[in-house]
Amino acid sequence: MNNAPHILMCPADHYGIEYEINPWMSRSRQADRELAQQQWRDLKALLEQVGATISLLEPVAGLPDLVFTANAAMIYRDRAILAHFRHEQRQGEEPLCDRWLSSHGFRVEKLPDGRYFEGAGDALFCGATLLAGYRIRSDIHSQQLVGKLVDSHVIPVELVDNHYYHLDTCCCPLAAGEAIWFPGAFDDYGRQAIRQAVPKLIEVSAEEAHSFACNAVVVGKHVVTNTGCPQLHRNLRAAGYTPHETPLSEFVKAGGSAKCLTLRLDGEEAASWKNAA
Ligand code: ARG
Repeated sequence: MNNAPHILMCPADHYGIEYEINPWMSRSRQADRELAQQQWRDLKALLEQVGATISLLEPVAGLPDLVFTANAAMIYRDRAILAHFRHEQRQGEEPLCDRWLSSHGFRVEKLPDGRYFEGAGDALFCGATLLAGYRIRSDIHSQQLVGKLVDSHVIPVELVDNHYYHLDTCCCPLAAGEAIWFPGAFDDYGRQAIRQAVPKLIEVSAEEAHSFACNAVVVGKHVVTNTGCPQLHRNLRAAGYTPHETPLSEFVKAGGSAKCLTLRLDGEEAASWKNAA
């Protein structure tokens, strides 16, 4: 694998709100198809502009959330721990992700039957530490198994607000020991665990969290988010990062934004190690 950050995306051709599996989704509030495709293309162009190489997964009719590639798997070096989705509406994505990853050089590993795990949506490396969200989608047993599989120190944190149902909607590692977060998505104990594990935290307000400020794509020192996060962008600049915004309103209608639309193929852990170097 080369050194440029490598990201998997899936074109938004078949994206839409066809079911409701989180509080953001309402079939009566459809995404504008044209606009969604434009926003997706703009995100891809921006990521390429800041140095990422993008690979594409083929979109499939009837799988509107396949566009959210963050959930396909958790990538660790040449290994992919495949997702098993909590909701059957998304389970059809699993064999497609399995096939793509296996045919692109990854060793695909599956969790035992009955375990739910939603990939890099819920499992984020911050340096060598694996921050693992559980309860709403991934389950706590899966997160322990994933930690064992990749021999990493896991900090399981319970997600307590249904709006922030995946860890990547309320937390984004920037580098080893450094992350963006929305404390309101965790309970006291989870907040304490994150504070201990990640000494440098940039806090996002409830209002900007609602604009998916935490759902950021980190490419080196570049941080890409949805629009509507000006305070986070100021804080990122002060911390030495270069923030970028691109409108993703149509994906927010499904409960997703920039990070959800991407999967780091060179490893989530690579993303935050490289920044620390
Ligand atoms: N509608 C999708 C779901 O509810 C959105 C997934 C967003 N992905 C993420 N990594 N947060 O599953």
